[in-house]
Amino acid sequence: MYDKNGKFHLDAKDKAILQKCVYENPYIPFNPFPKQAEMILATEKEVLIGGAAGGSKSTSLLMRALFYVQDDANEYHALILRRTLSDLKRKGALIHKASQWLNRKEVQNNASIKPKWDGTEHSWTFPNGNSLTFGYYANSYMKLVKMNQKLHNPDSPLLIEDVKDGETVKEISEPSYIDAQTRLM
Ligand SMILES: Nc1ncnc2c1ncn2[C@@H]1O[C@H](COP(=O)(O)OP(=O)(O)O)[C@@H](O)[C@H]1O
Ligand SMILES: [Mg+2]
Repeated sequence: MYDKNGKFHLDAKDKAILQKCVYENPYIPFNPFPKQAEMILATEKEVLIGGAAGGSKSTSLLMRALFYVQDDANEYHALILRRTLSDLKRKGALIHKASQWLNRKEVQNNASIKPKWDGTEHSWTFPNGNSLTFGYYANSYMKLVKMNQKLHNPDSPLLIEDVKDGETVKEISEPSYIDAQTRLM
């Protein structure tokens, strides 16, 4: 994907993947911009993209998540996370965008590819069983947050609650996930 000078170009293999996973993918209505192609073809475990609003970052995520949903041979479940549910649900945000893509007539009128939306799970399931789910991780249950706050004991070595009889607290060393990432930047 990169030549000797580190410049991105599409080789025959990349072109074949794009053809199969994007151009022939009924769920993706756009052809990717070159930077989007670079992002969605990346084989690394983690990919960092940034840029100004409107730079097509979110669309790249959705394209990448839909990349393999039509692959009948492999079970595939994509999860897109945002901080809050409203970050997903706002007009123009990813749930809205996915619904525009997946509710197009040519998709919904074709039973063999028609996906189904579950509004409670925020999840699309495709006829082959593959899925695309939207999740969020901010604390939206203020009642639970308040309850947990009451369990804080400043004298306890634990974040929440106390050490009970028969329990021991042992310090262990765990490699930092974040340190490993910053070395790459
Ligand atoms: N490959 C593409 N072809 C056509 N329009 C695109 C493409 N990628 C993104 N867009 C459009 O560009 C606009 C901005 O994209 P978006 O992904 O929301 O940007 P960002 O998340 O970086 O703010 C949206 O209206 C989106 O539909
Ligand atoms: Mg965005």
